[in-house]
Amino acid sequence: MRVFQLPQRRQLKQTTQALSPSTSLYSMWDAVARFAKEIRASEFMSDMISRRDAYGSEGVMGALDCATLYALTRWLRPEVLVESGGFIGMSSAFILKALADEKLAASKLYSIELSEDCEQGVLIPEALRSSGGFVPMRGRIEHFLEGNQLPQPIDIFLHDSSHSYQHMLWEFRQFWPRLRDGGLLVSHDIQMNAAFPEFVTKTYAHEKKTGRRDMQRTSHYEWGRWGYIGFAIKRQTD
Ligand SMILES: C[S@@+](CC[C@H](N)C(=O)[O-])C[C@H]1O[C@@H](n2cnc3c(N)ncnc32)[C@H](O)[C@@H]1O
Repeated sequence: MRVFQLPQRRQLKQTTQALSPSTSLYSMWDAVARFAKEIRASEFMSDMISRRDAYGSEGVMGALDCATLYALTRWLRPEVLVESGGFIGMSSAFILKALADEKLAASKLYSIELSEDCEQGVLIPEALRSSGGFVPMRGRIEHFLEGNQLPQPIDIFLHDSSHSYQHMLWEFRQFWPRLRDGGLLVSHDIQMNAAFPEFVTKTYAHEKKTGRRDMQRTSHYEWGRWGYIGFAIKRQTD
């Protein structure tokens, strides 16, 4: 039996209205740690590391962060995911593996990659790549947004494209409103600059008198970081 309180997607849909603003998602850390531990010890992890090392590991997500990404995906059980910076598919492979392990056959990962030169998704094992869940999109994320070519609402948005301060903040601001209530904003490489903590800070509101968090005006349920991954769970405030 699972130990966490909230998010299985279907569960969240039913319970969001009834959630007290102070509902704690603290126990999600247990679940995420457990899923991460499981995948780190798995054959899938060693196989992916061998593939990555054989292909060249420059610019791809590291093992610890892949495990966190896998765990967050399993925890939330998303239907619609968008990632920026799909590249050769290390992050995509762990997302698709999480969807497969949760038996989410209808879920889709829209994976956006700008470069025409890279073999997009080449690291993803064939069974996962051809499962129907992987939707590679070649081009600049800015253009897909301008052309309204991305699904909405989104359950998980993963940022892993350009890690300039401006671009990271821009993606967070663009995708936060597109996330459903309870959806996850996930960012890789948050240590590169202050964009992620700055963004999260803007989602906080405090009561003047007590200095405690004012949940009615705070637009996240929980946020955290692990390794180079940061995440925030969106809370709809309108
Ligand atoms: C750090 S790599 C992604 C690694 C990948 N997530 C993995 O784990 O294998 C960043 C990628 O983002 C792509 N990129 C940079 N700016 C982009 C943009 N504006 N739109 C789409 N992709 C972009 C780059 O071409 C590069 O391949």
